[in-house]
This record gives sequence, structure tokens and C-alpha cells, in this order.
Amino acid sequence: MSDHLIIFDTTMRDGEQSPGASMSKDDKLRIARQLERMRVDVIEAGFAAASPGDFESIKAIAEVIKDSTICSLSRANENDIRRAGEAIKPANRGRVHTFIATSPIHMQMKLRMEPEQVIEQAVKAVQWARQYTDDVEFSPEDAGRSEPDFLCRVLEAVINAGARTVNIADTVGYNIPHVWGALFKTLRERVPNADKAVWSTHCHNDLGLAVANSLSAVLNGARQVECTINGLGERAGNASLEEIVMAVRTRKDLFPVETRIDATQIVPSSRLVSQITGYVVQPNKAVVGANAFAHESGIHQDGVLKHRETYEIMRAEDVGWNANKLSLGKLSGRNAFKTKLAELGIDVASEEQLNAAFARFKELADKKREIFDEDIQALMSDEAVGPEVEHYKLVSTMFHSETGELPQAKLTLSAGGTECRAESSGSGPVDAAFKAIETVANSGTELLLYSVNAITTGTDAQGEVTVRLAKSGRVVNGMGADTDIVVASAKAYLNALNKLQSVHERINPQL
Ligand code: KIV
Ligand code: ZN
Repeated sequence: MSDHLIIFDTTMRDGEQSPGASMSKDDKLRIARQLERMRVDVIEAGFAAASPGDFESIKAIAEVIKDSTICSLSRANENDIRRAGEAIKPANRGRVHTFIATSPIHMQMKLRMEPEQVIEQAVKAVQWARQYTDDVEFSPEDAGRSEPDFLCRVLEAVINAGARTVNIADTVGYNIPHVWGALFKTLRERVPNADKAVWSTHCHNDLGLAVANSLSAVLNGARQVECTINGLGERAGNASLEEIVMAVRTRKDLFPVETRIDATQIVPSSRLVSQITGYVVQPNKAVVGANAFAHESGIHQDGVLKHRETYEIMRAEDVGWNANKLSLGKLSGRNAFKTKLAELGIDVASEEQLNAAFARFKELADKKREIFDEDIQALMSDEAVGPEVEHYKLVSTMFHSETGELPQAKLTLSAGGTECRAESSGSGPVDAAFKAIETVANSGTELLLYSVNAITTGTDAQGEVTVRLAKSGRVVNGMGADTDIVVASAKAYLNALNKLQSVHERINPQL
């Protein structure tokens, strides 16, 4: 009998700490729904005390997600824990995750606390958290550089105080697999009440070892792995969810554990997170990279054609690659479209939203002969990207580009319901379009990122654009998709401006 391995996703908390990867409440709700569809056990939805926006996002997620536990992070103080406890209150199952640093360098230089005071604070934090939920997780931050003897004392005390999960964090990604595994073994043997808690591993990827370290912890008794989609996270990121899940599944012979993850949702989750954060997935990334299942050499291609398992250890379709699967065409009706959305696991909030999406699908089908699943996904995320306030809308566009001439953009925008014309030249049509929009918006924002990605193959593919803007410490990502990448760019820019208009957006994901 295999043990259950709890998959704890922290894409919306640690992942959001990646520079510029801030997510709005709507973005987070979309990701949370996708994580639930993928059957993640625990969703760390944010850090409630970090900002009112973060608090609201966690609460909104706790209200709608039924099948995953919803967790909020909190430092080990009463105020943070109260905010976390209040944010998760509506959840079917809610968890408070509290942490304090235990390494000599953090205790002396950052906390300026004596080790005994740290133990006392950790115990109090767990007791406060237990007033809000029975499901309390405690992390010794920078455990990877802490003294094992001291860690044993802290862990014994917090388990006695009621922590149900103890999460050993390699905060700075300093460890290597056999050392990390050995630490789990030592701690589990030496902490007298070790059997009263679930042991969890949280690894950062500074040495490119986050997944290897996490797996070594699993071999030494960890039964929860904290990870993120696409390995997103602070600095070099966290352990990647897709790699952990597929490693334990593919090497069942080595790992005595099973997850409940629906692996066919892995690629859709990866695409969604990449689209929302603007973090492009490298083509050779394991499991979710565009080349993960592509065979280039003739010998490999020949082998795969003769017998797939000669060169493939996983099946692309098992992790959700249905790349370039012909989906619908110009003649497909509303019912076929609705059925396809259900098949892709896309929820439509109302008949109105369905009608609007169907009209946009028809427009796209006029421009593009073959519509693939990826096109439908992009079209629907375009539908859903609208923040609560949609101040700016793109009404019409005209671009002119000619050798020897400065490219020109002429746009008609709706700004707060009033139509206005905007015109500018630029070093290219996209530059001209952004400058034209700025003649109306005069936003005072700084452009941090502009990225374009082809959704499918072929020159008639839709381009998916991410625009990251910053203003007064706030960072937002806007998205847009269209067969015309200049139009997609203008849509993405306006989407980012609209997000900046929203009062609920948080200032900065990092405290
Ligand atoms: O890396 C870390 O130490 C963390 C903790 C808050 C678990 O993210
Ligand atoms: Zn972390």
C-alpha cells in the first residue's frame, strides 16, 4: 500500500514572490479553480497580512473552492495570524501556515532574538493559529542552515502546541539531495512526537536542486511536498509541481507514495500560470516545455515510431498535451462550442458570457481556418482577463508600416465609456500603438516586460502577449491574444492599464 503524498501548491504565495509575477484577485481565482480541477490537496492562496488585496483574494478563493484545503501564510505574530485565520474562515477546509526563522544567522541578524525566545514565539504562534483552525502548519524558516539539535527542540515544541504539519524549509536553496534526505531521517528519528505530524519539504532552486532535494525528503519520510507550477518562486524558484508529480508517478518502483493529482491538467495549469504571470516556460523544461516530447534525432524518431517506449518514459497526453488537436471550425455551432468548453474544463459564469465568447469565437474562425484547443483556451482567458473595472476598451485599430517610413498607429479607444481617437508614430507598430494609447491614458507607468508567444503553430497562429507595467510600487500583468500581434499587444497594454485602475490590486507581493 502506498502512502498519500500531499501536494501543497504555493504558486500564488511563494510563486507570486517572483519579481513581477503579481496576480490580481481575478487571476488568483482562475488559478485556484484550475488547481482544484487538477486535484491539488492544499492551495496556499497568499499571505493575508501582506495587503488588503491579498486578504480579499484568499477570502474569495476560500469561498469558492470546495475540494482543496485553502491556506494562508502568516508570520509568527498575533496580527498576521488573525488576518490569516479570518481570510480562510469561509473555506470548507482552511489551514494557517505560520513560520519563524531558526538558523543562527537569521535569529541573530534578522530577528535579533535568542533561540529560547524563538521557541517561545513559535509555540505561541501555533497556539494562536489553533484558535482559528485545527489545521495548523509550522515552518522553521531557513531550516536548511539551522542546527539539527535546535530544530529538534523547536519541532517537538510546536507539535506539542498543536501543529499538524511541520514544513522543513530550505529557504535559500543551500542543500544537496543526500544531505537533505539525511536531515529528514535525523529529525524524524530524534523528535519524540514526530509521528503526531505530517512532515513536509519546501525547497528553493538556487542550486537547481529543489526537485531532487524534495524527492530525497520523500524517500526519507516527507509526506507533503510544497511546490509551484512551472517551478515559479522567489529568486530561482521552488520545486516544480509537475516534475515532482511525474517523478513519483513514473518511478513508482522507487517512491512508496501516490498523489491524487489529475495529471492531464498539468499542461493547462502550466499555460495558465505562464500566461497570467508573463513567465514564459523554457522549451526544454521537463514535462511542460514545448520540446519535452519532441524527438529531433533520426535515430530517436525511428525508435519512437517503432515502439514509443524506446525513447519516452511518459506519454504526452497523460500530462495534458493535446497540442494542435483540431478543435472546432467555422461551421461549429453554439452547442459544439459549449461542449468543447466543458471538455476543456472551462467554466462560464453566465449565458451572457457564453454568448460573448461564442461571438468572439466566430470572429476568430473567420480569420483562422483551423481552431485548436489552445485557441479556445486563449480566447476564454481573454474573456476572463477583464478586471472588475474595464475602463479602457479597444474599439478599432489601423497600423501603417512601410520601408523608410516611421510606423504609425491610429486607434479608437473607449475610455470610461467615451470614445476617443489616439494616434502616434513609433520605432515599430507595437511601439506606435503603446505611444498612441498613452496620448489618451497618460498613465505615468513604466513598462517592465513585453513578451509575445505563438499559441499554436503556423503563421495564422494567435499571438499571446503579456505586458507588465509598474506604477508607484504596483506591478500588474496584462494579457491579450489575437491573430494580429499588434492588436494583441494593444489589448494586453489596455488590460494592464485597467488592472492598475482597480483599487483592490495589491501593491507588492513581497512584504
Ligand atoms: O522559503 C521559505 O522559507 C518559505 C517559508 C515561508 C515556508 O517560503
Ligand atoms: Zn519559500
